[in-house]
Amino acid sequence: MDIREKMRRDWDRRARVDPRYWVAATQEADEASYVDSAERDTAALLAGLGDRVPPTGRVLDLGCGIGRMAAPLAAHFARVVGVDVSPAMIEQAQALHGALANLRFEANSGADLGAFADDSFELVFSYSVLPHLPPEVVEAYFREVNRVLVDDGWLRYQFWIGPERRMADNDTLNIRVYDPERFQALNREAGFTVVDIEEIDYFDPVLELKPVWVTARRTGTPTDGAAADFSGRPATVSEEERSLEYGLLLYLAVKHGERGERAEAERVLEEATACDPTRPEAWITWAMHRLEQDDMRGARLMLESLTEKVPTLGSGWLYRAQVAAADEDFADARAALAQAEALDIDDAELLGQAAELRALLADAPAAPGSASETGAESKAGRRRKTRKKVVKRRRK
Ligand SMILES: C[S@@+](CC[C@H](N)C(=O)[O-])C[C@H]1O[C@@H](n2cnc3c(N)ncnc32)[C@H](O)[C@@H]1O
Repeated sequence: MDIREKMRRDWDRRARVDPRYWVAATQEADEASYVDSAERDTAALLAGLGDRVPPTGRVLDLGCGIGRMAAPLAAHFARVVGVDVSPAMIEQAQALHGALANLRFEANSGADLGAFADDSFELVFSYSVLPHLPPEVVEAYFREVNRVLVDDGWLRYQFWIGPERRMADNDTLNIRVYDPERFQALNREAGFTVVDIEEIDYFDPVLELKPVWVTARRTGTPTDGAAADFSGRPATVSEEERSLEYGLLLYLAVKHGERGERAEAERVLEEATACDPTRPEAWITWAMHRLEQDDMRGARLMLESLTEKVPTLGSGWLYRAQVAAADEDFADARAALAQAEALDIDDAELLGQAAELRALLADAPAAPGSASETGAESKAGRRRKTRKKVVKRRRK
């Protein structure tokens, strides 16, 4: 697969799930923090730029997303153009900001700026884009940026400099960190001189590093080099990429759930299970959502999917057994419990729950629906109780 195709596919998918979240993965994952992030990042872009680019300047936003920064910048410069590899992002950018006369959005190939003539811009900027790209795409872009900038034009971009961190070639999500030498060579070979590096006030706990704003000036032309060939890349998705995307989707779903946005939460959980059907968290969270809505059938379906996708997970079988028992499908509950017990469960609490369920099933009738209601709790009452128990356990 061509890396350009993968970048387009990946970011289109993210744009369809929630473009605001994916362009600015803020802690709160909501509209207010998206708006704050736009103000903060645009202010930082302008502050570091100073008066280097006059209001008559033409500006290119490389990897503009839905115009989070391009739109506010249209008030500061004569002309702003946003390009992005994802047509879905561009469509939403146009829907949101299409009315501004001096702002335009365009989808591009993901590795060149072929739509723009030489000397078209005084400033090219890029926020939270280049570190996600394979280095040869970054190199190709830098050469293109050099071409579309006027002599002495400016390039300002967010980047990570520190102990080198390389990702799989096809990874479009994880952050790449460039060591200082490689970073300087990237700029130099593309005809740029780094003028400023400013730390951004955000500490990434995983990378143990802060990102930076880089301001570079076009001071020459790129060194000679063969044109990059992006064709014929393997179509694999690396485990690191899948895992990060899954984790971010789950985080978004949990945020929706906390705000009571059930439909949104479930829509995102569906994406998470599609992203990695073999991981249990999204299936279980989804089942909990259904239980909270008294949708026993829905919860059971999620747990059945989980045990089908991850048949070696003892806790998955146990949850399935508990919910089946609560739904008085004792045959499925017994079968699922047997599966759980055949697997190694080493968690003491889960073992306790399995023992409790075994005792309960020993007294339960063999056939589904044959439980007597006389002198006992009603089925609805029992189901409510079990639902509470299961939900409480998962929340611990
Ligand atoms: C994290 S978002 C940031 C968006 C925007 N710069 C902002 O700060 O709001 C990354 C953006 O880069 C775009 N992108 C990813 N790879 C790209 C590429 N090769 N060329 C152009 N855009 C790309 C994605 O579609 C997405 O909109």
